Amino acid sequence: MKETLEQIRREALAALEGAGSAQELETLRVQYLGKKGELTAVLKQMGKLSPEERPVMGQLANEVREALTASLARRQQELEAAGLEARLAAEAVDVTIPGRRPALGHKHPMSIALDELKEIFIGMGFQIAEGPEVELAEYNFTKLNTDEGHPAREWGDTFYMREDSSLLLRTQTSPMQVRTMEQQRPPIRVIAPGRVYRKDEVDATHSPMFHQVEGLVVDRGITMADLKGTLNTFVEALYGKGTKTRFRPHHFPFTEPSCEVDVQCHACGGAGCRVCKGEGWIELLGAGMVHPKVLQGVGIDTEIYSGFAFGIGVERMAMRRFSITDLRLIFENDMRFLSQF
Ligand code: PHE
Repeated sequence: MKETLEQIRREALAALEGAGSAQELETLRVQYLGKKGELTAVLKQMGKLSPEERPVMGQLANEVREALTASLARRQQELEAAGLEARLAAEAVDVTIPGRRPALGHKHPMSIALDELKEIFIGMGFQIAEGPEVELAEYNFTKLNTDEGHPAREWGDTFYMREDSSLLLRTQTSPMQVRTMEQQRPPIRVIAPGRVYRKDEVDATHSPMFHQVEGLVVDRGITMADLKGTLNTFVEALYGKGTKTRFRPHHFPFTEPSCEVDVQCHACGGAGCRVCKGEGWIELLGAGMVHPKVLQGVGIDTEIYSGFAFGIGVERMAMRRFSITDLRLIFENDMRFLSQF
């Protein structure tokens, strides 16, 4: 019996040492220490021993059981530790690896140009107004001293929304002059940026949809000098101190007198080149003193108040600002183009 016990101890300890998993350990535990295990089987033989041998063998059997139990517990711990170690290694996060930069978008060149422009006028004390793109002909034309029969109301140029020509896509932001004055008494200082629509064929300088920024100032004693001072300040803020402007007489139904404002060509300094088509000047905006009929139409006393208005073509401004030579690029949304801004 002594040999059997020693043999069990040797074999079992070796087997436990070599166990590679919790499952293997459990199998060994059942095999040696379980109810039907090898050690238990030996203990069941104890009754057959002589009274002298019994305590000796009993003690040896206990020693073997303790040795196996201890070895089993140790191996179990080792395996658990190794398992944890392996999991930590597998799940390790290398915090030193550079992160993946998320693809952040940025402002469209038109938004950049518009924001710059707004910033300049806000700095001069203007407020920002917004109005509908689907507009009544009443506001787009009639209240702007452009009566029925005026060539500007031609079907060929305007996107009308009704047979009777009463509703349309606004052809200019100027209706915002009227809408502002109907809601606000002088002093008024507003700009109204937004989309406008005209039946133009698409080419390098034309689009059926483009942007304007309308400006309106109404107060006591406003003169052409205020108009020139404000617009020169705007042009210098946009294109730099000393940028020259030219005020040319023009006609708009809703301003009197009216003018167009040109900026000296940035590319050639006025000598004439490809950018300014040999002119030396580039047209920037239309402007004028608000026509008395327009003021009277909204119930503003022209004996007390006067005002000026202007309308800036934003695409033209942005094209010059970013040296863009084809208007279509602005609206095509080609990433190769847009990502340059
Ligand atoms: N609305 C005019 C245009 O579309 C521009 C303008 C605005 C002219 C305000 C005078 C005053 O061309």
